[in-house]
Amino acid sequence: MSKNRVSRRQFLSYTIMGVGGFMVSGTLMPMLRFAVDPVLQKSGDGDYTATPQKVSELTETPVRVDYTLVDREDGWYKSDVSYSAWVYKNGDKIVALSPVCKHLGCTVNWGGDESHPNQFFCPCHAGRYEKNGENVKGTPPIGPLDQYEVMEKDGFLYLGGTKANELV
Ligand code: FES
Repeated sequence: MSKNRVSRRQFLSYTIMGVGGFMVSGTLMPMLRFAVDPVLQKSGDGDYTATPQKVSELTETPVRVDYTLVDREDGWYKSDVSYSAWVYKNGDKIVALSPVCKHLGCTVNWGGDESHPNQFFCPCHAGRYEKNGENVKGTPPIGPLDQYEVMEKDGFLYLGGTKANELV
C-alpha cells in the first residue's frame, strides 16, 4: 500500500478548487469573448452600398441621395441605418460629399441660405461650404466636408466609406 495517500481534507480541497476554477472560468470566458469579439470582426469599410440614384440623372447641381445600409453590424447588434450624401457631376467625375457639418455635426443643405445659393449651408450656426466642400473662412466649420468613395454599377450610384476631401 502506498504511503502517499490523500487525506479526506486534501481530497475535499482539491475537489473544491477544481469545481471553483471550472465555475470561475465558465463565468469569465464569455465575458472576455464578449469584450474582445467586436475588435476581431472584419470592418465594413471598403464595401459599397447601392443607392436609388441613377448616374445618368446626375447634373452639376448637387442633389441629396438617401440610402440605407441593411443589417449593419455593430458588435452583435444588427440594424438598418440610413445615410445621405450630396452628389453632383464634376465633368466626368461623380462627387459625393458627406452632409455632416465639420463644426458640430449638423446636416448641411445645398442652397439653404438665400444670400449664398451656390453653397452648402448649415442651419445650426450659419456655417457655409463651397460646392467642392471647402469650408468658407469666417464661418464656424473648421474643415471641409468629407467625401464618399463612389462607384457606378449597372447605371446606379454606389457609395463607399468617407475619406478626407480630395477636392480642396
Ligand atoms: S454645426 Fe454646422 S455650423 Fe455649427
